[in-house]
Amino acid sequence: MQDQLILVIGATGKTGIRIVKSLREKGFNVREGSRSAAIPFDWERPETWSAALEGVTAAYVSYFPDLAFPGAAEKIEALAKAATLAGVRKLVLLSGRGEAHALACEEIVRNSGLAFTLVRAAWFAQNFSEGYLLGPVLDGVVALPAGDIKEPIADVDDIADVAVAALTDARHDGELYEITGPRLLSFTEAAAEISAAAGFPVHYQPITLEQFHEGMLDIGGPLIADVFTEICRETLDGHNAYLADGVQRALGREPRDFAEFCRSVAASGVWRKAA
Ligand SMILES: NC(=O)c1ccc[n+]([C@@H]2O[C@H](COP(=O)([O-])OP(=O)(O)OC[C@H]3O[C@@H](n4cnc5c(N)ncnc54)[C@H](OP(=O)(O)O)[C@@H]3O)[C@@H](O)[C@H]2O)c1
Repeated sequence: MQDQLILVIGATGKTGIRIVKSLREKGFNVREGSRSAAIPFDWERPETWSAALEGVTAAYVSYFPDLAFPGAAEKIEALAKAATLAGVRKLVLLSGRGEAHALACEEIVRNSGLAFTLVRAAWFAQNFSEGYLLGPVLDGVVALPAGDIKEPIADVDDIADVAVAALTDARHDGELYEITGPRLLSFTEAAAEISAAAGFPVHYQPITLEQFHEGMLDIGGPLIADVFTEICRETLDGHNAYLADGVQRALGREPRDFAEFCRSVAASGVWRKAA
């Protein structure tokens, strides 16, 4: 373990923070890939990459903001080349389910010549507790352009556990793990489960892609609005409405259920409204 150094890119994000914690608890040496780390890593400043990769044996790669953004594939390819030059053995890529751009990035990693594991995740439960939907949950209305589709909402704890296994055990080399929760949920059903756990009403409001775009323009500007609207158009059309067995294959256990996620977030106080 002490002869390994694992770089976690996105170390302060939803998946990265859990991966760093778990690796350290298991006794691995970890370098945090973050713009504010002692040795910084910045996707927008490739000149930071070689120092961040120096001495690294395996790297977790979560791209920000999303693999669908212009230039993401080129950056993933350049990172794989820099990792090869630095002598990195393995990359573990966080990818998104049912997304063409994510698939293209998976292929880049698959063909990089490095050992790899692909972690292809469904829509995150933690979008409701740590992501952009926390505010709407607290306001009681979650508006998404998702109609009445069902999604096998995945728990980020499971994604992190699979990534940690992949980073630390060569038996996961060459594997593609699709990570979903154990059941399909409509967003109406998800909101009802959040309401029950949080103790106040939370409703799902279906909106059009145009309404979503308008809302995102106010939050993030035209590029963010365009790309995230396209991601919603591509992923929230119901074609991801089936379960996968990535957690079972990688970890030999069942994925965490959305109800358990809701109970633990409610207990943590994150969904407590300010008095
Ligand atoms: N949300 C979903 O439902 C979902 C589903 C499937 C896949 N995904 C994928 O998940 C990935 C995001 O992972 P996540 O949710 O764990 O992360 P996250 O919570 O969105 O956090 C991303 C981290 O990226 C870092 N970051 C921001 N700008 C950066 C830059 N220029 N260079 C380097 N780091 C930067 C930030 O760290 P610092 O501020 O410390 O630098 C931040 O902590 C995306 O690629 C997305 O496609 C998401």
